[in-house]
Amino acid sequence: MALAEFLDDLERLRGEAVQRFETAADPDALEQARIEYLGAKSGRLKTAQKGLGRVDKADKPTAGKQFNATKQAIEAAYETAVGRLERDGRDGQATAATDPTLPGIRPVLGHLHPITQTIEEMKDIMGRLGFTVAEGPEVEDPWHNFEALNIPLDHPARDPLDNFYLATAQQSFSGRACPARSSGQEAATDITADPRTMLLRSQTSTVQIRVMEQTPPPVRIISLGRVYRPDTADATHYPMFHQIEGLLVDRHVTMADLKSVLRLFASAFFEQRDVHIRFRPSFFPFTEPSVEVDMTWKDGWVEMGGAGMVDPNVLRAVGYDPDEVTGFAFGLGVERICMNRHQFDDIRALFQNDVRVLRQF
Ligand code: PHE
Repeated sequence: MALAEFLDDLERLRGEAVQRFETAADPDALEQARIEYLGAKSGRLKTAQKGLGRVDKADKPTAGKQFNATKQAIEAAYETAVGRLERDGRDGQATAATDPTLPGIRPVLGHLHPITQTIEEMKDIMGRLGFTVAEGPEVEDPWHNFEALNIPLDHPARDPLDNFYLATAQQSFSGRACPARSSGQEAATDITADPRTMLLRSQTSTVQIRVMEQTPPPVRIISLGRVYRPDTADATHYPMFHQIEGLLVDRHVTMADLKSVLRLFASAFFEQRDVHIRFRPSFFPFTEPSVEVDMTWKDGWVEMGGAGMVDPNVLRAVGYDPDEVTGFAFGLGVERICMNRHQFDDIRALFQNDVRVLRQF
């Protein structure tokens, strides 16, 4: 075989191989081309090498040299192509992640707990009615939770079965259900009769007392927070829940003001939904007269809280003059109102903190 012919073939092979490698669009195409040109058994370079044996003996050194150069060039083109496709792969991914033409995907965001949302909305509505927010402690003394609210020592509301009393190391419970039934001597060992015995507040009405002790009338406050009662958790009870307390004291406050404020509150909170409220005569030691407030729920009514005109004894306990001022107070269950808003009927859903549930609010 003439040298010129051999060299021509080599040159054509190099050109073709380099072009195939340069234009290979993906790793599969490149691998195809590699097998075709650089394949160890029947690759075209291998075939060309066989042609070397047929070149005239005198031309062999030149032909061999050229063959090696061609082989190196083709291998180099292959390596370059491998690098190019790897880079494309990475760039391809980076580009896809930031492709501005793709529809947006909202990141998963958390949100406020439904109780917190309800509380914020209540503050907002009552704020528009001129009520400011007051705070009080969750660990209370018996004066603020009972005495000042006209709940005397022998009142069943002070029963240890209905309150979380906090015994100190020096104290121990007498084990009797009602301090009212204790004799004088036993009472000395009954921590529920000890004015130093703290308890987890059972109602936010404590804050009424704390505010009135601190401020001369008029007052117009709400207070929102946790209260504690030793109830077994079921669909409608939980040992901890939230109340919104309201207190308005001024000259000439009447029951009509109370009813208007609660009606305005309900219609603002439930907006276009047709939730009605009604008042039923009731009794609380710290209000006179007292009412229970119901709201419509499905086909009937459900209690949303208690309310009434502040009892003169309460006004006196904080140093107000019941002949000068009158007031109304209310205490509503935040969970109930939240459940009515969202139409579900198991309070436990609010505290099990299952994100699949909470996500729906
Ligand atoms: N504190 C009462 C309760 O927890 C509710 C209430 C508040 C009633 C204010 C009257 C006035 O049941």
